[in-house]
Amino acid sequence: MALIGTDIEHAAKLIETGEVIGIPTETVYGLAGNAFNTDAVTRIFKIKKRPSFDPLIVHTDSLSKIRGFVKAIPESALKLAECSWPGPLTLLLPKKNIIPDLVTSGLPDVAVRIPDHATTLALLQRLAFPLAAPSANPFSYVSPTSAQHVNDQLGDKIPYILNGGGSTVGIESTIIGFENNQPIVYRLGGLAIKKIEEVVGKVKVMAHSSSDPTTPGSLKSHYAPDKKVIIGDIKQLINTYKDRRFALLSFQKYYEGIPAENQLVLSATGDLDEAAKNLFSGLRQLDKLPVEYIFSELVPPEDLGLAINDRLKRAAAK
Ligand code: TXA
Ligand code: MG
Repeated sequence: MALIGTDIEHAAKLIETGEVIGIPTETVYGLAGNAFNTDAVTRIFKIKKRPSFDPLIVHTDSLSKIRGFVKAIPESALKLAECSWPGPLTLLLPKKNIIPDLVTSGLPDVAVRIPDHATTLALLQRLAFPLAAPSANPFSYVSPTSAQHVNDQLGDKIPYILNGGGSTVGIESTIIGFENNQPIVYRLGGLAIKKIEEVVGKVKVMAHSSSDPTTPGSLKSHYAPDKKVIIGDIKQLINTYKDRRFALLSFQKYYEGIPAENQLVLSATGDLDEAAKNLFSGLRQLDKLPVEYIFSELVPPEDLGLAINDRLKRAAAK
């Protein structure tokens, strides 16, 4: 198992020698290595068992460092960056040669983000290079929102996990690219579309479920637990499957007659931010139970509810 700790200097030294470690962010934990070092990047793909056609997000702590590895920042990108960074927003920007093609899977744009997490920002400030970091889960499994989640699945493959507590947003960043300065949303995430539109006006959303791996972040099988997830009306599902063993992931309420330990409520008060924060840990918790199915309902399709529903549908599409 990996060592879990809060030693930023130790984390920095490991990364400087080409190691790959777990790092906290406000969205989900990342599996991080030197983005300028192809050996470290190759290790990330290997540890995650991630196909080489699925590019990585590059993390750093300042716009001035970003200017060192991207060719240009469109005006609308700059506006979004100024309003939302540090935060759960990833921008696709034309890369300079210093970013290895391996990081972007040969694409001309690099995905960049400044995460909003004090520990990781301190680590990024300490380093002379940015960190390539996908979510720290095996490819296609549910993303991790705690150091323990990372340790559960990747602990035997990495030397260290920097512990920054539970991820406060709990769902991956929103990914935005640009065509002629026009923002296009490629992945729904922790920054709500509504907030983006307050800054840059109406945006095009191209983040619908698809099994086309060339559409970023859109592989259907992403985010799936091992147990079969079925989405629908929970009461009806309970009736239809009454002789089977199942767990419930509900938005606000517990269901009578079902053992409490088989139920997970995302937010008793109906708060979508809280629901997002609890989503992945909830799926992981229910996935450990001796059941065949996880029944879930969709949440209201507004604010972070859009991203939550996107992840639930992907989990069910396995
Ligand atoms: O919140 C997050 O974004 C987390 C934390 C760790 O920062 N990271 C994360 O990374 O979710 P990952 O690798 O699990 O998902 C990144 C997605 C991928 O699905 C990939 O297709 C897309 O970003 N992506 C990365 N680089 C891209 C590029 N150059 N062009 C298009 N899509 C890209
Ligand atoms: Mg991921």
